[in-house]
Amino acid sequence: MKITSTFDLSADFVLFEGDTLKLLPSIPSGFVKLVVTSPPYNLGKPYETRMDLDAYLLEQTKVIEECIRVTSDDGSVCWQVGNYVKNGEIVPLDIILYPIFASRGLKLRNRIVWHFGHGLHTSKRFSGRYEVILWFTKTDDYLFNLDPVRVPQKYPGKKHFKGPRKGELSGNPLGKNPSDVWVIPNVKANHIEKTVHPCQFPIELIERLVLSLTNENDWVLDPFMGVGSAAIAALMHHRKAIGAEIMPEYVAIAKDRIHQAETGRLKMRPMDRPVYEPDGSSTYVPPRVISLDQSIQGILLENDGQYHVEEGE
Ligand SMILES: C[S@@+](CC[C@H](N)C(=O)[O-])C[C@H]1O[C@@H](n2cnc3c(N)ncnc32)[C@H](O)[C@@H]1O
Repeated sequence: MKITSTFDLSADFVLFEGDTLKLLPSIPSGFVKLVVTSPPYNLGKPYETRMDLDAYLLEQTKVIEECIRVTSDDGSVCWQVGNYVKNGEIVPLDIILYPIFASRGLKLRNRIVWHFGHGLHTSKRFSGRYEVILWFTKTDDYLFNLDPVRVPQKYPGKKHFKGPRKGELSGNPLGKNPSDVWVIPNVKANHIEKTVHPCQFPIELIERLVLSLTNENDWVLDPFMGVGSAAIAALMHHRKAIGAEIMPEYVAIAKDRIHQAETGRLKMRPMDRPVYEPDGSSTYVPPRVISLDQSIQGILLENDGQYHVEEGE
């Protein structure tokens, strides 16, 4: 695999160490099929200086404009955000960022709710247990592959009980649409993917976007790459990746994770593992070992027999 530190057409992974606004201008317009990122939330994490909201929005606008420019006409931009919190008051960042995208002509296709079980317990409001992904497309003619991300149907073998299709399966045997509420554990203490980064993506969260919004050999960009989770999700499915990260420590970890994946040593939580149930009812699915030589696209659709039919689509 060819990794370069600056933009290079022949690379598999462009891993830029520095300010994202120094990398983005080097990417040709319309080059990337998917931009997916979780930007700094302006919360005073180790990698950010807390600024007033207007200044934060100005910084975000510069990056968003460049991201829109480099996205192809059939491509997508996914902005994953939570809340900015000041003196106990929350400002949902998707609400204040949405107008930046909409005013530049992007179309919101889903506001995906990412629900997870762990986080800070708050005493003066309900504990926050979700964040969102704003999925925008650049035009109405956009790529969307549903089949690779279908999930098992809820009821086995349910059939039409009347009408011309009586007796036939009432839903898609390949599985159902995963909906716009995604229950995926966040990367906290015992998560198998945990590094020192305080808020890394679970790889399975980005896998779903990579599989549904890009094809093989397409380019995926994360302008705030952290420890490289989006790049790993792209590369493991034979896409190419571009990422920028300002903290050398995280760049080093990203490189190490890629190296582990190349040598078959990087483990991830598999997409088909059910969320842990305290009553012991969830089945255990072992960690998946990532191999960058081998595509695992379509893994959700293995074992046809396990899919239950619920609804027509
Ligand atoms: C919310 S984290 C993203 C984590 C990432 N999704 C992952 O899985 O590791 C935001 C990242 O953006 C980086 N960052 C902040 N400002 C940046 C800038 N101007 N250019 C490049 N990276 C930046 C931070 O160091 C941080 O790692």
